[in-house]
Amino acid sequence: MSCEPALPALRLARRCDRLTSSLVRDILAAAVQPGTISFAGGLPAADLMPALPLATLADPALWQYGSSEGEPAYREAVAAWVGQGGLTISPQQVLALAGSQQGLDFAAKLLIDEGTPILCEGPTYVAALQTFQLFGAEVLCAPLAADGPDLAALETLLATRRPRAIYLIPCFQNPAGTCYSAEARRAVAALLDRYDTLLIEDEPYRHVSLDVDHPMTPVCALLRRAPWIYLGSFSKILWPGLRLGFLAAHPALMPHLVRLKQAADLHTQRPGQMAVAHWLASAEREADLARLREGYRARRDAMQAALERHFATLAEWQPPRGGLFFWLRLREGFEATRAVLDAALAQGVTFMPGEAFFVEGADGHRFLRLNYSHATPAQMERGLALLAACIRAHAAVPA
Ligand SMILES: Cc1ncc(COP(=O)(O)O)c(C=O)c1O
Repeated sequence: MSCEPALPALRLARRCDRLTSSLVRDILAAAVQPGTISFAGGLPAADLMPALPLATLADPALWQYGSSEGEPAYREAVAAWVGQGGLTISPQQVLALAGSQQGLDFAAKLLIDEGTPILCEGPTYVAALQTFQLFGAEVLCAPLAADGPDLAALETLLATRRPRAIYLIPCFQNPAGTCYSAEARRAVAALLDRYDTLLIEDEPYRHVSLDVDHPMTPVCALLRRAPWIYLGSFSKILWPGLRLGFLAAHPALMPHLVRLKQAADLHTQRPGQMAVAHWLASAEREADLARLREGYRARRDAMQAALERHFATLAEWQPPRGGLFFWLRLREGFEATRAVLDAALAQGVTFMPGEAFFVEGADGHRFLRLNYSHATPAQMERGLALLAACIRAHAAVPA
């Protein structure tokens, strides 16, 4: 007989039932296996990441507890950086975060009760969906058109469902790659003002801009009365393992957000904030970003050429003008289902099936998201040939 104490029955909060996401978990676990060609994650290219001024790591003063809002130098540098993008804010409106994902968590805690309607783009960022649903949101989706959301559908949802907030990724949307036009930005801001809807604007890809020739003014900057939370990240242009991002918000929201930060983790790590503040103020910054964009442009073009060779008869897509992903819509008769994913995984190739980015019931099996920043051109060639063969083998109508 075992003398081990019996395990007490685990009693977890009801929201934990909503934490399951086996599909995404399986894919990301497979993506890190040696030899796997991964088109799945959003990993930036390690060889293009700028060198960070890491002298701050050696400063023992920075290993002491710090302020919940963030280091003054970081908040000032971020306010200036966001201002250059078109959103004028004061350093007091900046909160340092452990990645912009933490901002999504805070926005959800701040706004969502059981059943709260939250409006998103359809499709949308998978981890935002998970966070909003974890806190009990009813997620509504306005479909995305080529240069922004479908404005008629957006207005109908705002008018009839009165969502408490809307979550948008106007620069190189994840997963669809859409970059809102200047007109779409103005039209969305006017609608949010009309219906007094709080905007959560998420911009991790703003600086991975490859060939956009119109102003990308943040929608938050165009609002006159609706409240807003603006999220930014250094994960795609510096190092994601630093876990550094920020939010800026309407002044009325700041005290609540700072308390949420205190309750979550007291404050963001200080040496990284100082390293990023130095980089933001450095003479190297613009050259670093130009080199990064040039490298991404070459990878994007290599992926486009490989897709033309292997996917022309299978799918339609627009080459992304920024961000890290291609978003493919499969032609009639083809699907990117779980069976296709399993077959691709067996061949050592991963991708993100479209269904992960939609709320249940949408037409996600016709889409797939492919990351272009991680694989080498040779891996792209091999991986896309294998993936195309898997999709053909699982066609609803054999091709
Ligand atoms: C749209 C979007 N928001 C937020 C994040 C999270 O970024 P971070 O690493 O800053 O937490 C990502 C990461 O891929 C993303 O694509």
